[in-house]
Order: sequence, then C-alpha cells, then structure tokens
Amino acid sequence: MERIQKIIAQSGYCSRRKAEELIKKGLVTINGNVITEMGYKASFNDYIEVEGNSIMDKQDKVYYLLNKPRGVITSTKDDKGRKTVVDLIDDNRRIYPVGRLDYDTTGLIIITNDGELANLLMHPKNNIDKVYIAKIEGLITKGNLKTLESGVIIDGKKTSKSKAKVLKMDKKNNTSVVELTIHEGRNHQVKNMFKALGYNVIKLKREKISFLTDESLPSGTYRQLSIHEVKKLYNETKMVS
Ligand code: URA
Repeated sequence: MERIQKIIAQSGYCSRRKAEELIKKGLVTINGNVITEMGYKASFNDYIEVEGNSIMDKQDKVYYLLNKPRGVITSTKDDKGRKTVVDLIDDNRRIYPVGRLDYDTTGLIIITNDGELANLLMHPKNNIDKVYIAKIEGLITKGNLKTLESGVIIDGKKTSKSKAKVLKMDKKNNTSVVELTIHEGRNHQVKNMFKALGYNVIKLKREKISFLTDESLPSGTYRQLSIHEVKKLYNETKMVS
C-alpha cells in the first residue's frame, strides 16, 4: 500500500505536489469513489482515475529523462564498476536506457521499463529525430555538410538522410560546432560520420530527442516524463508506421 499522491506521481501523470492539489480539489477517484484525504493509501490493484483519466495502464511503467554527464556508461551495470545511467536514478525497479550514449558523450537519454516504447523509439523506421551538437577539429566545408546530409558510408552501409547545420566556426582554434539531426542509432554513429569525412569529434552532446529538450534539466539531473509526453512519444512513432 502506498500513499495515493505517491502512486499518482510514480505513474508519471504529474508531480506529487500537483497530485496533492488534485486530491484536494476532489479530482481523484479510487475504485469510483472521490478521495480527498491526503494520507489515503491505495495499492496498485485499485482502479485510480485522475481528472477522469485512468492511470492504470501506466501505473507500473516509469519514464525518466536524464541529462547524462560525461564519465557515465549507458548500461544497467558495468563489470569494471563504473557508474551507469541507471545508478543516477533513484528508483529500484528494473529500468534501462533507450539506446546508447558513449562514456564521454553528454546529453539526453530516456530511461524506462516500457519495452514497447523503447523498441519503437529505437527503430530507425520510426524516424525519431535525435539532435546532436558536435564540436569537431577542423573547419567544416559546405560540401562536407551536404555529404553528411545525404549520407556517408560506415562499415559498408550508407547512413540515412540527416540535417547538418554549422553553429560556429573558430578559425583561430581550427574547430567547428555542428548541429546534426539523425534518426538512426548505430554505434558511435555521429563520431563515425565525421570520421568518415576526416574530422575528429572533440565533444558531443545530445540536445534533443524528438520534442524533448534539455531545457531546465542541468547535466546529471533527471525528471519523469508526464503521461502527456509519453503519449506524444507513442504518437510520434505511429505517425510513420
Ligand atoms: N553518436 C556517437 O558517436 N556517440 C554517441 O554517444 C551518440 C551518437
């Protein structure tokens, strides 16, 4: 048995504080009865509605958006005892990252126990945009930006179409900053795309996954996705299937 506001927050519908407000307003029902008592306890077997929406189907599912810092591996455990993205999240359920970011890459990663969503997001046919900011050695040329966009050969296979935009060119230090939007998730894909054109990536950050951005999510912190965001992610994958 758990306090009702905790169950609602764990479902990802809203924060615990917001849940308390909704309880006070009489907008939460358990098995059809309005509950306004703050400490009321329920179990995962009770039928809970918030503002008329059932939270049952999502009750055992959890979705986090983590802004991964450098020096953390994208895995659930590590033989070498290094910190994993799952270690950064205060949740004892069997959660796992959707896709991968390299040890030295920073930025957004979704962590969940919803295998269906994880598979949909990772499947390249679903065209989920991932936006990376890469700082590279050298000054990128217009021609190479075009080549990045039309596809480069990695391990004998051409990458699919992407979008590439120069954000900065530093002639003095001989570096460029490029925004690259891709929807595949091959191993070390961004680094390998630049490498194929002779550029070394010095720094890499994932700034956006579909409509999710890192705004107000400092490095090393995380937040739960709301039910609305989860629904939107499902819808994004359905738009093309
Ligand atoms: N591409 C890379 O090369 N590395 C990452 O971490 C993510 C995408």
